[in-house]
Amino acid sequence: MYSEEVMDHFSNPRNVGTIPDADGVGTEGNPVCGDLMKIFIKVKDNRIEDIKFQTFGCGAAIATSSMATELVKGKTLDEAMELSNQAVAKALGGLPGNKMHCSNLAADAIHAAIEDYRAKHPVASAASS
Ligand code: FES
Repeated sequence: MYSEEVMDHFSNPRNVGTIPDADGVGTEGNPVCGDLMKIFIKVKDNRIEDIKFQTFGCGAAIATSSMATELVKGKTLDEAMELSNQAVAKALGGLPGNKMHCSNLAADAIHAAIEDYRAKHPVASAASS
């Protein structure tokens, strides 16, 4: 069964949507089920000022995206790079074993968005690190 946290983030997901003028965008696909997650970030002073997600996936993927975006909002890029898929699942009070693969998308998509930002803003990244 799903934890209360999973049900809460599934029923009322935080940070859903897109950021049209995003500083970085990351997309991650799940090889197990073919589902997809897209993360958009706005960066200011080396911190994640805003973050939104779009998930073409199951309820567990929506809940993990919602929790992951909450965990990194306001964090520095280096701190956000340290977020692991396991930490997101733990913050949600765990996931059923057969849904653990669904938690693999969120943190990886966030890391991809940060890498995209850093590739597009090499000077800003170097100056602020
Ligand atoms: Fe695909 Fe959950 S079944 S992410």
